[in-house]
Amino acid sequence: MDNRTEQLRKVKEEVLELKDSPLYQERVKNGVFPVIGEGSHYAKIMFIGEAPGRNEAQTGRPFCGAAGKILDELLASAGIDRQEVYVTNIVKDRPPFNRDPLPEEIKVYAHFLDRQVDIIQPEVIATLGRFSMDYVMRKFGLGPVITSISGMHGKIFSAEASYGPVKIVPLYHPAVAVYNNGMKEALITDFKILKNFK
Ligand code: URA
Repeated sequence: MDNRTEQLRKVKEEVLELKDSPLYQERVKNGVFPVIGEGSHYAKIMFIGEAPGRNEAQTGRPFCGAAGKILDELLASAGIDRQEVYVTNIVKDRPPFNRDPLPEEIKVYAHFLDRQVDIIQPEVIATLGRFSMDYVMRKFGLGPVITSISGMHGKIFSAEASYGPVKIVPLYHPAVAVYNNGMKEALITDFKILKNFK
């Protein structure tokens, strides 16, 4: 097995066994799955969302519900094939009632995300929504430049990862566009930036 695939498989196994997580009991009670991530293990672009929703927890696949449909449209609008990117979330288990992830939940799962970043070594990290924007910007020492997502979306920030340079592009979460066409237009404009990194 390819080394990256093997390392990612280990991440998956550890998340499956994460009995200390506050969301583990929810997962077991509801008979659902953690969502680890999906896509190319050699992706240049890595998308990081928030946490799985109902559809994602039922299938174990990221962004496969309403927000996923929008993400697919946005990728298509930028001419990016979903199979060539990697899509994941900070929190790997579904928070009950789709509520926002709590700081302690982010803390429990974030180091799995850190490992995924180090394994896949993306050139670009596109954050989806403010939770992943906050986490990723802070992770790379860019905490002091964080403002609101409306002030940061579509901008490109340079940082240094363990494996070399990385660009961070904060984006709105696709779910904001489900009932809001203005937001969809903003997302379509921002996704065009990613075309240059394919
Ligand atoms: N929203 C997210 O942030 N992630 C998913 O996987 C689905 C919806």
